[in-house]
Amino acid sequence: DPSPIIAPSILAADFASLADEVRAIEGAADWVHVDVMDNHFVPNLTIGLPVVQSLRKATPMPFDVHLMITDPDRWAPGYAEAGAETVTFHAEACEDPVALAKTLRAAGARAGLAIDRDTPIEPYLELLPYVDMLLVMTIKAGFGGQKFMPEMLDKVRAARRRIGADGLTVRVEVDGGIAADTIAQAAEAGADAFVAGTAVYGADDPADAVRRLRSLVTR
Ligand code: DX5
Ligand code: ZN
Repeated sequence: DPSPIIAPSILAADFASLADEVRAIEGAADWVHVDVMDNHFVPNLTIGLPVVQSLRKATPMPFDVHLMITDPDRWAPGYAEAGAETVTFHAEACEDPVALAKTLRAAGARAGLAIDRDTPIEPYLELLPYVDMLLVMTIKAGFGGQKFMPEMLDKVRAARRRIGADGLTVRVEVDGGIAADTIAQAAEAGADAFVAGTAVYGADDPADAVRRLRSLVTR
């Protein structure tokens, strides 16, 4: 099994000090989770490509870009070209997920497919061979600080079953309400990448919060 990934979300960080906020988790976290929202796919607005490009120069940490935007077919490749390690787009917004995943890989990134709270997993299981990661939202996308929804873990279990049965190497990431009291059940269901915003940046010591989360999913 690949080792678990802890990916703090800078959505819960101080946007006026992003470089420092990312440096605070260097050495402790695996990836930096970057939530891009366009006030259209979700009713919230965060950061976009210029900020990702600037931040890219400020840290060597891999970027796990989560695009909560309309028309990812058009905009996602720019994030791969900006040096994001993983670019995840939403199934609900994407015209041609297989083609987009291929484009992202050709641009040097890993491709992630995300499904929001109200989206069933079944229609997307057949896309698993074409992506590097599946992101299962454990809240409704749009805002940090929401309550973890354990019923979403059925999707994680279904994906993990298919990944195992078909011998695929696809990570399953969970995003939303991941904290010390929820991370173990997500791991138990088959998740191996964990996004945490509030649980990391709401803590007095973000690096320590990351280490604590990791200890809960490392056997
Ligand atoms: C929300 C974002 C999440 C958010 C999670 O739509 O995708 O990444 O930062 O925040 P917490 O960990 O506070 O639920
Ligand atoms: Zn996210």
